[in-house]
Amino acid sequence: MNFEFILASGNKHKANEFQELYLNSNIKIISMEKKIEVIEDGSTYFENAFKKAKAYYDFYKMPSLADDSGLNVEALPLLLGIHSARFGGEGLTDKERAILLLEKMKNIENRKSSFTCVLCFYINEKEVFYFEGRMSGRIGMNYFGENGFGYDPVFIPDLNTDHEQVISELSEFKMKNSHRAIAVQLSKKFFANRS
Ligand code: IMP
Repeated sequence: MNFEFILASGNKHKANEFQELYLNSNIKIISMEKKIEVIEDGSTYFENAFKKAKAYYDFYKMPSLADDSGLNVEALPLLLGIHSARFGGEGLTDKERAILLLEKMKNIENRKSSFTCVLCFYINEKEVFYFEGRMSGRIGMNYFGENGFGYDPVFIPDLNTDHEQVISELSEFKMKNSHRAIAVQLSKKFFANRS
């Protein structure tokens, strides 16, 4: 059976990653023209993902997929995580946020970090499914690379053991190993077996 979900996000970078990640599967992701504003005031990735998915479902009356994701920084536990998109206040660009993070980390030795992604598939009021993915690594010392988005230019993944590259230099690696890729793989397995 094939499934179609509207993407509960106005983030073009996320939309592009999802299009690629769900290629050759029975899941089709559709980006809608109109972005629905959702106040992300939940206290977990799960709550925020649910809020976004439900808001799009309620507006478009179609099954939806929401992604709530963020960067967890061990040394700055309260500043990022579910608040990653608003780190430093509203109105900053992705690049300004990433550079602000480097500044805050200037004298901090513990650079351990991870990305989390929670996907919420809202099919209807009774069928809501979640999948979670994580990628561990550390915050680098410099801003590097032009690909990717968000904190990609300052995040060095643990799994890429041969090099000290940040995610924005590792597009292929990201598509296989990222927090989003892992959550997507779990969802693909689940929906492949569902009729
Ligand atoms: P959301 O769109 O409300 O879920 O916020 C996600 C936040 O985490 C934004 O600040 C993104 O830039 C950041 N983020 C999420 N996933 C990634 C990623 O794959 N790379 C870099 N930053 C990410």
